[in-house]
Amino acid sequence: MKRIYTLLVALIACAVTTAQTVDVRIYDAAIDTPTIAPEIYGQFSEHLGTCIYGGLWVGPESDIPNEDGYRTDVLEALKALQVPVMRWPGGCFADDYHWRDGIGPKESRPRMVNSNWGGTVEDNSFGTHEFLNLCEKLGCEPYISGNVGSGSVEEMAKWVEYMTADNGPMAEERKRNGREKPWRVKYFGIGNESWGCGGSMRPEYYSDIYRRYATYCRNFSGNQLYKIASGASDYDYNWTEVLLENIGHRMDGISLHYYTVKGWQGSKGSALDFTTDEYYWTLGKALEIEPVIRRHIALMDAVDPEKRIDLLVDEWGTWFDEEPGTVRGHLYQQNTMRDAMVAALSFNVFHRYADRIKMANIAQVANVLQAMVLTRGQEMVLTPTYHAFYLYRPHQGAHYLETTCSAAERRVTETRSVPEVSVTASRKGGKIHLSLVNPELEKGQKVSVKFEQLKPTKLSAMILKADAIDAYNDFGAHADRVRVTKFEGAKLTKQGLEIELPAASIVTLEIE
Ligand code: AHR
Repeated sequence: MKRIYTLLVALIACAVTTAQTVDVRIYDAAIDTPTIAPEIYGQFSEHLGTCIYGGLWVGPESDIPNEDGYRTDVLEALKALQVPVMRWPGGCFADDYHWRDGIGPKESRPRMVNSNWGGTVEDNSFGTHEFLNLCEKLGCEPYISGNVGSGSVEEMAKWVEYMTADNGPMAEERKRNGREKPWRVKYFGIGNESWGCGGSMRPEYYSDIYRRYATYCRNFSGNQLYKIASGASDYDYNWTEVLLENIGHRMDGISLHYYTVKGWQGSKGSALDFTTDEYYWTLGKALEIEPVIRRHIALMDAVDPEKRIDLLVDEWGTWFDEEPGTVRGHLYQQNTMRDAMVAALSFNVFHRYADRIKMANIAQVANVLQAMVLTRGQEMVLTPTYHAFYLYRPHQGAHYLETTCSAAERRVTETRSVPEVSVTASRKGGKIHLSLVNPELEKGQKVSVKFEQLKPTKLSAMILKADAIDAYNDFGAHADRVRVTKFEGAKLTKQGLEIELPAASIVTLEIE
């Protein structure tokens, strides 16, 4: 009887310990895990609001400090993020864009109305040269979205030739416009949202159109195009299925757009003013990208088991109501610690499918939706999302490591839940990086980490945490309210690591 009692006490004690400590295990013995494509940390720049004009580009004559017309502060900020790829010129704008309007002397470039985005007049002063030179300055791959919706096959074919050919009439024209050597352009999208703003097509029709346009997107002078089909929006599995069947291996990648948005009709909620329930709802919606990705990937696995076609989440992020007082149609929204949580949780998902997801482009790099930077005149602030990207930089190009985590789940709707701790790990050059997200607003977590192989001897860590979940960086007084700092809450133990993870925080550890 006494023995049973002792056993019971021991069992209860054990259950209490387990409930209090979150156990994380890192499977670091595996050597053949997929690489996390650096392009998962990609950016998206569109002629929309002040993303390009004012955000990236002010022109060489501007009073705002610039390098050849590009804002110096934004350039420096993006260099620090090691941006791997930048998508341009849209979005919806891409299927209205005629590249010839954006080359040659600035004064003779025609103007146009940006009908998708507030009817703003576009002067085309930022065009092909300006974009591709920006990518060279940032050391990133350009990803061009071609115009299928309102452009011709010939127009698209000549654009590719203009950018990438060494000789011939298009190359000569480019040289006359000041660029001797061709650029290297790898990623080329055949249309954007061809089911909607890119032409309102049915998937069967778009598949044929894709095949036609893609035929004339040729490889010049050693440049090798990677062709991307305009893919589905979130739950449209039929679009993916039809494209896979009709386009198949004629595409290198198929895109997917998934926004963390309340709905397309009515209010999308405020970026700054939200309740606790809305906070958890947002994270639940962001995490729903995982089952969505899984279903698209299952369709891909069925026709492409050898994984020759990649999935590219080339638009993702939060979409809230435009900030009151800003121009309608410019999609300007502030960015809080909640957005940083969405970014980090999304990366943890993308990493899990690193064998199929080879690119993701957050919408958008500056002044639009879930931006990295916000600018106002001379001023610039780095958003909490920027800092999440910064914390996750070490995972770019690293080997993905499987993990398990014993954290409980918070149910937020009938079908959605949010883990109390979410983790991801990778290895590069003898170092393991472990990122942990604690979305819980009032619950710090004790985390115990064990490895399969590594006996860690060295540790350093950084944390992103704010004084409130709706904290944000604003021009002037609190430009630096949310920022990354050194984290002292982790220590080495005989078995691995022990971490005191504060509530509502994101941490990245470097372990050797
Ligand atoms: O990112 C804003 C818009 O969202 C893009 O232009 C479009 O592709 C999507 O609908």
